[in-house]
Amino acid sequence: MSDSDANTMWGGRFAAGPDAIMEAINASIGFDQRMAAQDIAGSRAHAAMLAATGILSDKDAEAIREGLLTILSEIEGGDFAFSTAREDIHMNVEARLKTLIGEPAGRLHTGRSRNDQVATDFKLWVRDQLDAAEAGIASLMRAFLGQAEAGADWVMPGFTHLQTAQPVTWGHHMMAYVEMLGRDLSRVRDARARMNESPLGAAALAGTSFPIDRAMTAEALGFDRPAANSLDAVSDRDFALEFLSCASICAMHLSRFAEELVIWSSAQFRFVTLSDRFSTGSSIMPQKKNPDAAELIRAKIGRIFGANVALTMVMKGLPLTYSKDMQEDKEQVFDAADNWMLALAAMDGMVRDMSANRDALAAAAGSGFSTATDLADWLVRVLGMPFRDAHHVTGALVALAESKACDLPDLTLADMQSVHADITSDVFDVLGVENSVASRTSYGGTAPSEVKKQIARWTEILG
Ligand code: ARG
Repeated sequence: MSDSDANTMWGGRFAAGPDAIMEAINASIGFDQRMAAQDIAGSRAHAAMLAATGILSDKDAEAIREGLLTILSEIEGGDFAFSTAREDIHMNVEARLKTLIGEPAGRLHTGRSRNDQVATDFKLWVRDQLDAAEAGIASLMRAFLGQAEAGADWVMPGFTHLQTAQPVTWGHHMMAYVEMLGRDLSRVRDARARMNESPLGAAALAGTSFPIDRAMTAEALGFDRPAANSLDAVSDRDFALEFLSCASICAMHLSRFAEELVIWSSAQFRFVTLSDRFSTGSSIMPQKKNPDAAELIRAKIGRIFGANVALTMVMKGLPLTYSKDMQEDKEQVFDAADNWMLALAAMDGMVRDMSANRDALAAAAGSGFSTATDLADWLVRVLGMPFRDAHHVTGALVALAESKACDLPDLTLADMQSVHADITSDVFDVLGVENSVASRTSYGGTAPSEVKKQIARWTEILG
């Protein structure tokens, strides 16, 4: 392509083509070609509307429609020569249309601008990603539900500060992630509903004097309505920021579970065994089975949240309406979307494949004086002690067990009575972890009976 070709879109005012460096900094085709399908869908809707409103002849509209379909199949087939000189996906498609159908191609841009065009394309792209995220999150929730069902009543230690706190159930721990992902899902749905207004027809910034029908293009593209302010329509990137915010929060949840998997799969914990399919070996240490997928998921939050910060910084100082800064929105979102989808899929596979080691979980559940709170509660309930006194007595019993290098259930009744004379042998009933978890029947508690109710509720919701 020659310099003069490069200038066909605005060549009337320009005597010379751009410097090579100008072209390099200006062009977005290297990345915005990912929006080709959305660009062509937007142009088809626009052309059909121009014909329906009498702005364009049916004959020209039909030529445009056929030309756009040809271009779509060329792009999908990998037969399209993208040109940097033609800057972006919008101009690449339009220039190709001109080659294919001639003069009518020049009429397609009536009543629109690249400003509303790019906002429309990008919204459609982000909307598709929100739909993909919704499916990915729901699938991962089902994977966690499957784990919860399999071990609804398996005991394990619950932690605070990563110190053994109280026994909980495996099912309860898995269902905690179902709750988190459930909020992620609802955030994705909210974002989709809020963003679903069409910018198309806002034109450069002020609307147009042509009698266009914005409701028609909005409907054709699956939007709920046209955006009500043309200045806002071309300058809004909230939808992209909200997408990145949804992605960041969800990636943070994935990262927390990834961290748990790294800990749990270690030789010191052995709570879970990850499948070979989602682990790697070491080139020097034959015994190693590394949780690389979990570690990479843990790291993904960095680039996803980074994209969120970067785009916020791009947008924060821009006067209305469009500024070329906004072209920097896409790479951030593309990269975050790719990595979010990959992290969701990898976590899905890991959760489905992993096996919980019931015995190791149970052994850990009973260690670390995990039923000390049950003992204190027993002193309150049976001996009528104020909780603060019971806490003190229990602390003394833990210290005694520690000095004897045993756990609480291993103390004798005489040991117990040496700390508090009124303790009876009934106390041993509450020191077992099974009894401990079974007793926590408060709503949302860890008792298997409660966990099973939550499993049933989510199974119904997810259908
Ligand atoms: N490639 C541009 C972008 O991504 C398209 C819009 C260009 N509009 C303009 N007025 N220069 O933002």
